[in-house]
Amino acid sequence: MMLSLRSPGGDFNSSPDSGQYVPQLDYEHLARRSNVLRSLHATHEEWRHAMESFVVASSVPQVQAIEYAFKHVENSHGGEGDYDTLVHMQRGALTAVILAERLGYDVSDRRILMVSMRVHDAGKLNSDIQALLSIPRPNDEQFKIIQSHAALGLTYGAVLSLGPVVQGITGFHHAYKAKDPYGAELTAVPEDLRNKRLEMVAAVADVCDALLSVREYRENDPSRPLVFTPEEAIEKLRAELTVDADILDAMEALLLSTPSAPAIV
Ligand SMILES: [Fe+2]
Ligand SMILES: [Fe+2]
Repeated sequence: MMLSLRSPGGDFNSSPDSGQYVPQLDYEHLARRSNVLRSLHATHEEWRHAMESFVVASSVPQVQAIEYAFKHVENSHGGEGDYDTLVHMQRGALTAVILAERLGYDVSDRRILMVSMRVHDAGKLNSDIQALLSIPRPNDEQFKIIQSHAALGLTYGAVLSLGPVVQGITGFHHAYKAKDPYGAELTAVPEDLRNKRLEMVAAVADVCDALLSVREYRENDPSRPLVFTPEEAIEKLRAELTVDADILDAMEALLLSTPSAPAIV
């Protein structure tokens, strides 16, 4: 499927060589405490495509703006920078586009997905949410505030101006939970302009990273496992998400199949 989507800084299909911005990939932060990228049995070709897409998205001004904001936001410890969310979005983006390639999505859709995932938790820049992010077990009221990040993401101009598909992925990335789904009101993005399959791919990659990587909220909770194994992650994804079966099958193959090529991370 070809989607035409333009941002003020140029379209997503521009060559990585065409922009003036040379992104500094922060490999230390990207791979830090992450099992997800090590766990993906992706081919060299899939990794190459994913990294090309990563570089292209790094030249999109809205992605730069959101990432800059996360690097400087005041966090819950009174410090600066929410790297936990920042690198989660980057790892989730790489996972999502590799999964999308397995599912047959073309480069245009994969770049839209990459950009979407790089900003999908933008709502967490909200200061009330930042204050709660490292709490291991938020109470109901606190959890509601954290949950508002999905709908809040839609209110950021940077996300809105990226178009309805990106907006849909940002707003609905928690809307495919089997139990207590949440996210943007269904009227926030016109139904016919959403790409629900891409939203499902995003939802799977999002949860996958959260389960396989060390996240700050679990790190502070000794009663829960720090990370889940790929086998446990697949079991939880199947139990906790209502998405098309072939997306879960493709994720399972990526995590549990014999690698056709070693992962690069
Ligand atoms: Fe989220
Ligand atoms: Fe997320």
